[in-house]
Amino acid sequence: MNMSKRSLKYVLLLCLALVFTQCKTKTENASDNQEQNSTKGMTTKHQISTSEFGKLPSGEKITKYRLVNENGMEVDIINYGGIITNLKVPDKNGVNKDVVLGFNSLDGYLTPSPYFGAIIGRYGNRIAGGKFVIDGKEYTLALNDGKNHLHGGNKGFDKVVWEATQISNSKSVSLQLSYLSKDMEEGYPGNLKTTVTYTLDNSNSLKVKYEATSDKKTVVNLTQHSYFNLSGDFSKKILDHQIMINADAFLPVDATLISTGEFRKVKGTPFNFTSAKAIGKEINSENEQLKRGLGYDHCWVLKDQDKGQRLAATAYDPKSGRFMEVFTDQPGIQFYTGNFLDGTLPAKGGGTYAKRTGFCLETQHFPDSPNQKDFPSVLLSPGEKYQTETSFKFSVK
Ligand code: BGC
Repeated sequence: MNMSKRSLKYVLLLCLALVFTQCKTKTENASDNQEQNSTKGMTTKHQISTSEFGKLPSGEKITKYRLVNENGMEVDIINYGGIITNLKVPDKNGVNKDVVLGFNSLDGYLTPSPYFGAIIGRYGNRIAGGKFVIDGKEYTLALNDGKNHLHGGNKGFDKVVWEATQISNSKSVSLQLSYLSKDMEEGYPGNLKTTVTYTLDNSNSLKVKYEATSDKKTVVNLTQHSYFNLSGDFSKKILDHQIMINADAFLPVDATLISTGEFRKVKGTPFNFTSAKAIGKEINSENEQLKRGLGYDHCWVLKDQDKGQRLAATAYDPKSGRFMEVFTDQPGIQFYTGNFLDGTLPAKGGGTYAKRTGFCLETQHFPDSPNQKDFPSVLLSPGEKYQTETSFKFSVK
């Protein structure tokens, strides 16, 4: 009797233990499922999230906005300079990697930086002698590039805090950035109300829409200054990337990198990218223009100027398979091969950014247009609206 009582006790204990483990497994499975669902939820729905990126010396907080699409493509933008700090896109095996140069923290962007990922304004590229004339009045800008003015001056749009608004709809997520540049800021006339909207959609396209109005006649030429390295490995040079530029001509420069005013045919020169070719193929050729730019640092005259949005350029990294198409309505594109990167700036993944570890494709009006009578006008008058769009579309080949 004693024995059977004891065995009953064991059986009961065993049953209890069994029930307990069963329940536990069920709970674990349930939470596993929840996790899977929420992970699924995160990757199947496009969304924006925010986090603090750092503080300015004034104490003002800078926010990082992360736009994610349903394929998991990710773009991080900060409201300082409208800078794209990270851009993660998949390679041919579906592996997401960051393909833009930048810094890990805000500090990097607060010390002199080569405009990594920033919005450039009021005038992207160079203005000769930092001077231009509107209606007989001469305006003087900062000379921040030798004898010339570059990328908006000492405190251009890459160094101001933008007001950010998040927008989301069924197809895409957007970050709208607004900034009021006051009359005579950096020497430019007119209160310029500027809006730049970044939109990430589910076709892996990142659109940049620029809008501006002014209460006085002024000049405007906005652009985006991301340095791409589609390999996702910033210790590698970009010389194997294949570039196509939809242009039959480019704008030669003088010794200070100011356009001479000439439109030169690319045919038969190292500047011919009408069919895709490796950046490194002719970059070291004996060529006076390549010597001046220390590589490619020139504006190409895009074809079909009157056709609105069209394909301006493509970039392809054969190893990763990442392919980028650039569409724009602008007349020109500055192709810059990171010639001034010199291994002194710290890279995001460790190490430093060496010469030619990133390239820029900056859609824009031609450099120094305010002083070049044969270039399309960049004048913006009160009552008019400056409006232009560029898209960077990513896929694999
Ligand atoms: C210019 C280069 C310049 C670089 C960064 C590019 O847009 O074409 O000459 O060095 O920006 O400052």
